Amino acid sequence: MAKMLDGPVPNGARSVSWPWYHHTLTTELTADARTLLEQYSKIPPDRVETHIYRVRDKAWGIFPWPCVGEFWFLSFGLAKHPLYHTVILPRLKSGDALLDLGACLGQDLRKCVFDGAPANKLYASDLFEQYEDLAYELWNDRDIFPPNHYIKDDVLADNDRFMHGNLMMTLGPGQIDIIVINMFLHLFNYQNQLKVATRILRLLSHKPGSIILGSQAGVVNPIEQPLKPPFDKTEDGEKRTVFRHSPESFIRMWEDAGRASGVPLRPIICDFQKPEATDASAPGVDTGLKAEEKKPFTADDLFSKEPLTKPRVYFSGPETGRLYFSIIRS
Ligand SMILES: C[S@@+](CC[C@H](N)C(=O)[O-])C[C@H]1O[C@@H](n2cnc3c(N)ncnc32)[C@H](O)[C@@H]1O
Repeated sequence: MAKMLDGPVPNGARSVSWPWYHHTLTTELTADARTLLEQYSKIPPDRVETHIYRVRDKAWGIFPWPCVGEFWFLSFGLAKHPLYHTVILPRLKSGDALLDLGACLGQDLRKCVFDGAPANKLYASDLFEQYEDLAYELWNDRDIFPPNHYIKDDVLADNDRFMHGNLMMTLGPGQIDIIVINMFLHLFNYQNQLKVATRILRLLSHKPGSIILGSQAGVVNPIEQPLKPPFDKTEDGEKRTVFRHSPESFIRMWEDAGRASGVPLRPIICDFQKPEATDASAPGVDTGLKAEEKKPFTADDLFSKEPLTKPRVYFSGPETGRLYFSIIRS
């Protein structure tokens, strides 16, 4: 993956005829996104849409990710997480540091600031350094979001480069209390997910209760899935795959990463929503509180030192969907 991304984008990949390039906004511009753009970014209401299209097309020119073509950067994945209101926001307000890995245009961090988190302990990181400027352009917040908090790095770099790379040099090992990985690990094959997981554990604070959380695509039967053109092959012609986790395989992978790193972990799937369930939440309403209410366990269960007696996987549906997870350092 990293090799392909470092090199030229495959032929034709920036074509706007790929199905994941949505030509017009439909449901993506939710009330939450509009509120943030109007009230936080101070974009005049009648310019919001053209503003989004302009920034999106610049982002498409950097790399034609589905998250860019489909306007995911208007969706606040972190705020939809069951722990956002009850655990994450309060901890940010009391001084925890948060890193958003694979932050792209940094929407989750801006939502945290809008919801009252101090910006000085929030960090973003991504493979593409151009996203820092583009995120400032999208959110119009150079006066709010601190400079040098967007760290360019490659989580798949070879070991020596990673250990001496920007993330380790800027943040240092064991310094981050909350690491967000929204729609991130599922970009990689199994071997690389495990590699990235152990690197994330190096960055995570040594304090018990430090947490890694996010959401990603999930399936009932885990599978190493071949990618479709134009991303199906490396420059050397090797076939590329991404690993799709079931809730159980995701937990097992983190347990393995914890054992390999000597870090005691409690990985939990907070929710596994089939697409209908995700879509059922009213447009523009972040589902954090509602999601917490319907969960079979509480935040106290998650952070308790006692063995968890309740099931660690909560299913809201049996089909392919979205996994919301938290991995807590015991
Ligand atoms: C699917 S997007 C998700 C963006 C955002 N977290 C969200 O939820 O909308 C994945 C992001 O991971 C970044 N990424 C991909 N490979 C990476 C790597 N090897 N190191 C660091 N970031 C990477 C991409 O540039 C992209 O911004």
